[in-house]
Amino acid sequence: MEDRIREDLVRDIGIKRFEHSLRVIEVAMKLCDIYKVDRDKAYMACLLHDCGKFQDENNLLKHSHKFDIILDEVMMDNKELIHAPLSAKIAEYRYGIDDRDILSAICYHTTGKEDMTLLEKIVFISDYIEPARSFPGVDEVRNLVYRDIDRSIVLAMDNTIGFLISRNKLISDRTVNARNDLMISIKRRG
Ligand SMILES: [Fe+2]
Ligand SMILES: [Fe+2]
Repeated sequence: MEDRIREDLVRDIGIKRFEHSLRVIEVAMKLCDIYKVDRDKAYMACLLHDCGKFQDENNLLKHSHKFDIILDEVMMDNKELIHAPLSAKIAEYRYGIDDRDILSAICYHTTGKEDMTLLEKIVFISDYIEPARSFPGVDEVRNLVYRDIDRSIVLAMDNTIGFLISRNKLISDRTVNARNDLMISIKRRG
């Protein structure tokens, strides 16, 4: 990895989140081998997936405004969601990433979306199961991912949706669409 990328990332998101990104890479590389996905693209997407996760909320909102990210009701209710599209913008304009596959995987790593590519699925689920994650249900998702990535994402989304409901939070329509889409292909496969 270029030293400059490392230095910029550590400065912007802190050493803890940078180390989280390295663990996400570690999981993603295994999944790339299993699901035959381009390792270089997954590496870059995972490295930069949280590059816009500014700790300070004002900073987050300021940067979103600068990059014309539309903050809808769902994002305002759950500000955790903002950093994903913002990270895609920062990856593009600050880190010079022009590969649409990488940028899309970064953009949708928190919500998912309809018609996810394997690269998008790998970044999404690697972020969810990286070794330091310890929330309830994460081991079931970990066990499933090497056999059936679609089912593991549905399970991860079920956990997230359940958590959001328990907290009286809005649910992103992107997550609902992603889940429906995955469920349809799982049912078709039988
Ligand atoms: Fe993230
Ligand atoms: Fe992350």
